Amino acid sequence: MPNVLITGASRGIGLGLTKFYAQLDKYHVYACVRSLDSSGDLRMLLQQTKFKNKITLIMLDVLSPTSIIEAKNKIGPSIDILINNAGILGPIDSNCRDGIDPTELINVFQTNAIGPYLVAKIFFNKIKSSKDKLIVNVSSDMGSISNNNLEGYDIYRASKCALNSLTKSLSNAYKKDLISVVAIHPGWVKTRLGGENAILSVEKAIQNIVELISKLNLKDSGTFLSYDGIILPW
Ligand SMILES: NC(=O)c1ccc[n+]([C@@H]2O[C@H](COP(=O)([O-])OP(=O)(O)OC[C@H]3O[C@@H](n4cnc5c(N)ncnc54)[C@H](OP(=O)(O)O)[C@@H]3O)[C@@H](O)[C@H]2O)c1
Repeated sequence: MPNVLITGASRGIGLGLTKFYAQLDKYHVYACVRSLDSSGDLRMLLQQTKFKNKITLIMLDVLSPTSIIEAKNKIGPSIDILINNAGILGPIDSNCRDGIDPTELINVFQTNAIGPYLVAKIFFNKIKSSKDKLIVNVSSDMGSISNNNLEGYDIYRASKCALNSLTKSLSNAYKKDLISVVAIHPGWVKTRLGGENAILSVEKAIQNIVELISKLNLKDSGTFLSYDGIILPW
């Protein structure tokens, strides 16, 4: 059975993806969380009989290389689809005019760009030995330099831009291993990060993302795709 590994599975898009893939009956899901305290909804899911053998809860904090290595050592030999979903928004009013806090900048970069890069590196052998060989980095259209015409969210934008750059570099590096690496924008989704005013429900966003992922192949590697399949400008 193919395996999907999802980071940030405690809530929002990560929890939605976990539930969806587990329900498909075709995949085993490694649902990675950084803390049991924040994973109440996922743990409730795991108590339902239909999900019992479909989902394995794994502790993984993308800020900690040791935690990523420990997670790798706990799971089976192959990961078909790695979904680097964990992310944070950081301070929303950060902007270059008023000045951005370097400590916040480092923290958001570590979570949104360096973390996913390390997960991709550390899980490389498991992805290489799988059938599907796919790495999906959940980015944001706010990481597009071409579309950055508004003040605000400057730390978040920069972190997702760095994630996009690393996505492209990983796609170049892993091409000979037939591993596809893409960055995707999930749309504006009603989660803790997306907020109440977001356009898409988690359920609709998950349908879009899963459909997009199901169509990906090596030709798409190194692209930045919107949830509806449209190629976004870097
Ligand atoms: N929602 C949107 O509109 C939107 C738009 C564009 C892109 N995105 C991207 O989509 C992804 C998921 O966002 P979301 O909307 O589902 O946000 P969310 O509801 O805030 O969930 C974020 C998830 O990331 C986890 N996380 C944060 N820091 C982590 C760390 N150091 N290690 C491991 N996990 C960590 C959180 O775990 P805890 O529960 O422990 O905090 C949580 O599970 C993010 O990468 C985000 O940038 C979202």
